[in-house]
Amino acid sequence: MSKGFLVSLEGPEGAGKTSVLEALLLILEEKGVEVLTTREPGGVLIGEKIRQVILDPSHTQMDPKTELLLYIASRRQHLVEKVLPALEAGKLVIMDRFIDSSVAYQGFGRGLDIDAIDWLNHFATDGLKPDLTLYFDIEVEEGLARIAANSDREVNRLDLEGLDLHKKVRQGYLSLLEKEGNRIVKIDASLPLEQVVEITKAVLFDRMGLAK
Ligand code: TYD
Repeated sequence: MSKGFLVSLEGPEGAGKTSVLEALLLILEEKGVEVLTTREPGGVLIGEKIRQVILDPSHTQMDPKTELLLYIASRRQHLVEKVLPALEAGKLVIMDRFIDSSVAYQGFGRGLDIDAIDWLNHFATDGLKPDLTLYFDIEVEEGLARIAANSDREVNRLDLEGLDLHKKVRQGYLSLLEKEGNRIVKIDASLPLEQVVEITKAVLFDRMGLAK
């Protein structure tokens, strides 16, 4: 049994997870909460190498099942090397993407079998699920427009996919939300950043039993 608290951040492209996370970290630091932040795919050396293979814009011939299995492989390595030790040390761990991304992107987006993905996720994580998942919801067109306006951001293979895939991904998240409304909390990411940060902080502190 882990003693820490595991949070995952999820959402379609351009929802602003990374900006919210940066602001949240300052708040948590001020509170003296020990936190580890990390991202998927990646987070550890082997994971980052797998990330390069998955997201390389020139890898247009990648088969959807290969893509799924690479995400799953990266997930396992990252979990064992980085996430579990931090949870065992009692830390708050915030992950930028986790199991739900595979369901939303490879399941709903690419049309792969959801039961197979659930099984693979379970296999990779030994059944570990986040204590809390913050789902940043935004209309697909608005999210993609934000990305287009942000020239600093690296463009990856999934960003280059059509509108249709991204719409299916959002539907996937909304359907996960319906199924697991206890674990997953939806946050309206179309609001101004300061408001999104305030709401995120309130939800996190409430779930962790921290005073505001
Ligand atoms: P990243 O640059 O980290 O994107 P973002 O800032 O949107 O999180 O790239 C990660 C990409 O990988 C993103 O497009 C979502 C996708 N992804 C999957 O398709 N399946 C997965 O299981 C994970 C973890 C990510």
